[in-house]
Amino acid sequence: MDKTNTDHFKNKSKSWDMSSMRVQNAKSIADLILKNIVFSDTMEVMDLGAGTGLLSYFIAPHVSKIVAVDNSPSMLNEFKNKASEFDSETEIIEVDISKDDLNRTFDGIISSMTIHHVEDTKALFSKLYAMLNENGFIAIADLDTEDGSFHSDNAGVFHYGFDRKMLENVAKEAGFKNIRFDLASTINKPQATFTVFLMTASK
Ligand SMILES: C[S@@+](CC[C@H](N)C(=O)[O-])C[C@H]1O[C@@H](n2cnc3c(N)ncnc32)[C@H](O)[C@@H]1O
Repeated sequence: MDKTNTDHFKNKSKSWDMSSMRVQNAKSIADLILKNIVFSDTMEVMDLGAGTGLLSYFIAPHVSKIVAVDNSPSMLNEFKNKASEFDSETEIIEVDISKDDLNRTFDGIISSMTIHHVEDTKALFSKLYAMLNENGFIAIADLDTEDGSFHSDNAGVFHYGFDRKMLENVAKEAGFKNIRFDLASTINKPQATFTVFLMTASK
């Protein structure tokens, strides 16, 4: 396996859901998504960087189908093991969003704690825009700018959080409208307190 295809989550996937901090973070993000976005039971929604499905699980009761997109086989394996417990159809697609195209469109795209792992944010937002049906939405949560101490190991981390204004401009350039930021969650770690934003926007 070459370096670019390394599964950075291989050693974390089995115990991923055992962290109450992660589950609480995903729940807080999901609650805010459900407050800000009107869902319907006909919607097909992509979870970008779905991982083990922590965010997908809370959104599933409100949609027809969750499409879990991730480039980590080990994380997707955990997703697969839980999929029968989801209140929606599920589909799993193993793909590196920074390299490959899906050639699919969705009614919405949700994502939690993933976009800091994708180097080219501009290219990512253009790709997400192209993957949305007319009036489709994005609801993307990630860290506000941090000092690099959030992860104990920064392998595979391309951004130490994001400046909201910068991200707003990137989204605008990609064509998104109705861009909005809210505080989704606060994560207390021994070294610092980190905040997580939710960015919502529409096509
Ligand atoms: C920090 S985890 C978050 C997982 C899940 N969303 C959650 O909140 O628990 C980031 C996820 O993004 C995935 N990921 C990172 N870079 C990716 C890429 N280029 N394409 C697809 N998935 C990616 C990782 O494999 C991992 O499962």
